[in-house]
Amino acid sequence: MKRIYALLTLALMLTSNLAKADEGMWLLSLLDKMNYKDMEAKGLRLTPEQLYSVNHSSLKDACIWFNGGCTGELISSEGLILTNHHCGYDAIADLSTPADNILDNGFWAKDKASERVPKNPMSITRVVRVDDITDKMLEKLNGVAEKDRAAKIQELYKELIKTATEGTHFEATCREMFKGNAYYLFVMEKFTDIRLVGTPPQNVGKFGGETDNWMWPRHTGDFSMFRVYANTENKPAKYDAQNKPYKPLHYLPVSTKGIKEGDFAMIIGFPGRTNRYEFSQGVALATDIVDPNIVNLRDIRLKAWKEQMVQDEATRLLLSSDYASIANYWKFFDGEAEQLKHNKVFEKKSAEEKTFSQWASNKDEYKSLLYDIDQVYTLYKPYALQSTYMRECITAPTIIQMSMIGMSLEAMYSKKASIAADKTKSKEDKAKEIAKIDEAISALSKEFIEDLKNVAYNDRIIAADKKIFAGMLKMYYKNIPSDQWPTFFKELAGKIKNGNADEVFGKYTEMVFAKSVFASKEKAAKFFEKPNLKKLLSDPAYAYLKAHFDNYNTNFKSKVTEFQAQSLALGRKYIKGLMEMQPNRMFYPDANSSQRLTYGTVKSYNPKDAVHYDYITTMDGVMEKYIAGDYEFDLPAKMIELYKNKDFGKYALANGKLPVAFLTDNDITGGNSGSPVMDGNGNLIGLAFDGNWEAMSGNIHFDEKYKRTINVDIRYVLWLIEKLGGASHIVNEMTLVE
Ligand code: ARG
Repeated sequence: MKRIYALLTLALMLTSNLAKADEGMWLLSLLDKMNYKDMEAKGLRLTPEQLYSVNHSSLKDACIWFNGGCTGELISSEGLILTNHHCGYDAIADLSTPADNILDNGFWAKDKASERVPKNPMSITRVVRVDDITDKMLEKLNGVAEKDRAAKIQELYKELIKTATEGTHFEATCREMFKGNAYYLFVMEKFTDIRLVGTPPQNVGKFGGETDNWMWPRHTGDFSMFRVYANTENKPAKYDAQNKPYKPLHYLPVSTKGIKEGDFAMIIGFPGRTNRYEFSQGVALATDIVDPNIVNLRDIRLKAWKEQMVQDEATRLLLSSDYASIANYWKFFDGEAEQLKHNKVFEKKSAEEKTFSQWASNKDEYKSLLYDIDQVYTLYKPYALQSTYMRECITAPTIIQMSMIGMSLEAMYSKKASIAADKTKSKEDKAKEIAKIDEAISALSKEFIEDLKNVAYNDRIIAADKKIFAGMLKMYYKNIPSDQWPTFFKELAGKIKNGNADEVFGKYTEMVFAKSVFASKEKAAKFFEKPNLKKLLSDPAYAYLKAHFDNYNTNFKSKVTEFQAQSLALGRKYIKGLMEMQPNRMFYPDANSSQRLTYGTVKSYNPKDAVHYDYITTMDGVMEKYIAGDYEFDLPAKMIELYKNKDFGKYALANGKLPVAFLTDNDITGGNSGSPVMDGNGNLIGLAFDGNWEAMSGNIHFDEKYKRTINVDIRYVLWLIEKLGGASHIVNEMTLVE
C-alpha cells in the first residue's frame, strides 16, 4: 500500500512537471539553493558552479548584456558574438546607404580587417559577480520615510558601488528586487570596441516583418554577429585598430545535434521589465486606458511614415530602424490588452487578492492593504494618460523632439541673466562667469549641429511629420479632458466650431512648420550657428513643447510620481505578505535588466480548441509564405535556388527538411532578445527572439497553457552563414558539437 502511494505521488509529480510551463526568471547566483534539483530532474547535466561561479569560468561569462537592451552570447575564443538581427538592426541600418546597402543585401566580413565599425557607439557588458546587498540596504532604509526612500536608495547605491569597484576597471549597478524587499549589486565589465561581423539580408533576418511579429508559426532568421575587441591585456578599451579580439572566460559550444519535444532547454539573458505582482487595478488600467491609447497614437506615426517609406528607398533606409521599434511595441500593446482580457488576468489577480485579504483580515500590517491600493488607483485614474501622452503624443513629432534642445539652451540663458542681475558679485567675476556660459552655449550649439546630421528629416519625412503633428493634436483633443489642457490649447480648441477640428489643427500645423526653426535640418543648423533667446522663445514648436511641459510639471508630475511611489510601497508590502502567506512557494523577482536564467523544455501548444501548433518550423514554411517583391515576405533569389536544390548540407532534419525556428516554454520578455538557448550540457541550440501572440499578457501574468518562447534554430543560423552568406570561415571559428 505504502509503495503504491509513493509511486502515485511520484507519478503525479512527474505529470505535473510535464504539464507545467516553466515560470520564473531566476537569479543565477541563487540557483544552487533554489532550483538546481528541479533543473537536474528536467535534464540539466552541469554543476551549479558551471552555471555561475565567481572564481571559475562559467556560463554567466558567455551570456552578455548587448548594447544595454538585448542579450548576446560569446561563441568563439576570439570574441565572436551572436545576437538577434533586430538587436543589431540600428547599427546595420546606420551603415546602410542605397549605394552600400548591407541592410537589404546582407554582409559578411571576409576577414577581421573587413569588419565594420558601427557609426554610433555600442557596448557589451559581462557580469563579473553578483552580491546580495539586501541586509545592508534594509538596515539603512529602516525608518526612512516613504517620500525620502528613493533618494536614500540612490545614496546607498552610490556608496556600495564605490566600495565594490574601487581600484578596478569594473562598473557596478544595483537592482531593487521584489519592489524593495531585496537588493542585489552586479559588478560588470563593459566593452565598447564592438564591430559588425555579419548579417543576413533583412528579408531573411526580418522575414515576416510586422505581420508575423509576436506570432507563431514563425520563419525569421533573426540573427546578426559582432565581435568584441580588447586591448593587449584583454581589457576593455575604446576603439583602436590595434585592439585584439577579446578572449572570453567562457564561450558556448554550438550543438547541431538537434532538438525534440520535451528536451531540456535553458536561457540566460537580461530580461527588461515584467510586472508579475501587479494588482488587478493595474491590469484594468492597462486594458481599458493605457494600452489602447498607445496603440492609437503609434498608429498615426506608423501610417504617416509608411506612406513615404514605400515611395523612396533612401527614406525607407532612414526610417527603417525607428519604424521597426515603434511598430514592435505598437503590436505589443495591442496584443497585451487583448490577451489580458482573453486570459482573464484581471479575474485571476482579483481572486488572488481576495485570498490575500482573507488571510490578512486579522493582521494589522496587511489588513487595510487592498483598500489602500484601491484608493491610490482611484485617485490616479483621471490622470493616467498624462505621462503616456507626454511620451507618445506631445513629443512624437520629430519637429518637437528636435525643439527639446531649446530647454537646455533656455536654461543657460536664464543662468546668464541671473548672474548679470546678481548684486553681490564684482564686475570682473560676472564677466568671467558669463564668458564661461557663452562658451557652454557655443559648445552645445556645435554639438547639436553635429547631431543634426544623424537626424532622419528629409522633405518626405517632414511631410509625414506634418501629418503626425496634426494627428497628435486631434488625439490630444479627443482623449485628454479639457480641464487638463494648457491655456494655449484651450484657446486653439476654442476656435473649433461645427466639428471643423481638422481645419483648425491643420492651419495651426501649417503655421508651426512655416515659422519654426526646427521645421528643417537646414533652418535648425542656421539658428544654432547664432542662437538667440528671443527667437527661441517665440518659436512655435518650442512654445508648444514648453506649454505642455509646464502644464505637466505644474499640474500632473507630482500626481504621477506620488502614484508611482505609493503603488511601489504597497506592492512591496503585498509581496512581503504573499511570502508570509505562502512560505513554501518559490518566488522570483520581476525582470529589471539583470542577468537571469529560465529553464524548461522544448514544447508545442494548442492556441485554441482543436488547433495544434507544432514545436518546429522548416524552410518549407518559409517558401509557403514567400511573396515575390513583397515588403515583408520577399526572399533573396539565391535562397530560393538553395531550397530548390535541397542544398541543406549537414543541417537538415532526418526527413530532409531544414529547421528554422522552434518553441520552448521558457519565461522571457523584451531584453531577452538574442539570448542563447542551451541544452542540458550548456551547448547552444538556438537563440530566443520573440514571444507568441496567445501569451502577450506575459509581462503581467505567466500563462502556463500558452506562454512560449520563439527561438531561431542554430542549424538555420549556421546554414544561412555558410550557404547563403558563403562565410564558412565564421562557422569554422565556432566549436561545433555534432
Ligand atoms: N517582437 C520582437 C521582440 O520584441 C522584436 C521583433 C522585431 N521585429 C519587428 N518586426 N519589429 O523581441
